[in-house]
Amino acid sequence: MMQRKTYLLTGAAGFIGSNLAHHLASKGDKVVVYDKLTYAGNKASLDGIPTESLAFVNGDICDTALVYKTLAKYGVDAVFHLAAESYVDRSIDEVYGSMGDSDYFHKICHYQIYCILHKNRRLYNG
Ligand SMILES: NC(=O)c1ccc[n+]([C@@H]2O[C@H](COP(=O)([O-])OP(=O)(O)OC[C@H]3O[C@@H](n4cnc5c(N)ncnc54)[C@H](O)[C@@H]3O)[C@@H](O)[C@H]2O)c1
Repeated sequence: MMQRKTYLLTGAAGFIGSNLAHHLASKGDKVVVYDKLTYAGNKASLDGIPTESLAFVNGDICDTALVYKTLAKYGVDAVFHLAAESYVDRSIDEVYGSMGDSDYFHKICHYQIYCILHKNRRLYNG
């Protein structure tokens, strides 16, 4: 029998992540959804996933401490990183406009993804 896996899905209140969450849960795996619930996120898109197969964390992927805490708390086997500002115009206008430095935004997001992957490797591969 296949062993049940636990997956962390960032951005899984969104389109692709929520569909992936349903798929993984239907195979018997557990999904931990980590989502900031922006205008693009809809928690109701996870309705129908059995409660024993779903955990929801309302958080920002840039909140490193919460990401680490979530990974440790749920004993995550693998991460699917789908959190994004997927509307291209907004990603340019709003992020650049509010921070004044689009390069900074890209740096922190890439750094965050690196941290998630690196921490996972350290946690599970020794
Ligand atoms: N939809 C498509 O057809 C398509 C095609 C190819 C690639 N992609 C890529 O797949 C990824 C997901 O796309 P989607 O269509 O599901 O996007 P989406 O906009 O439907 O969902 C994005 C999710 O990310 C969450 N989010 C945004 N910023 C966050 C943050 N800082 N921390 C935590 N959560 C955050 C939002 O609340 C939302 O639930 C994106 O990288 C997108 O570029 C999408």
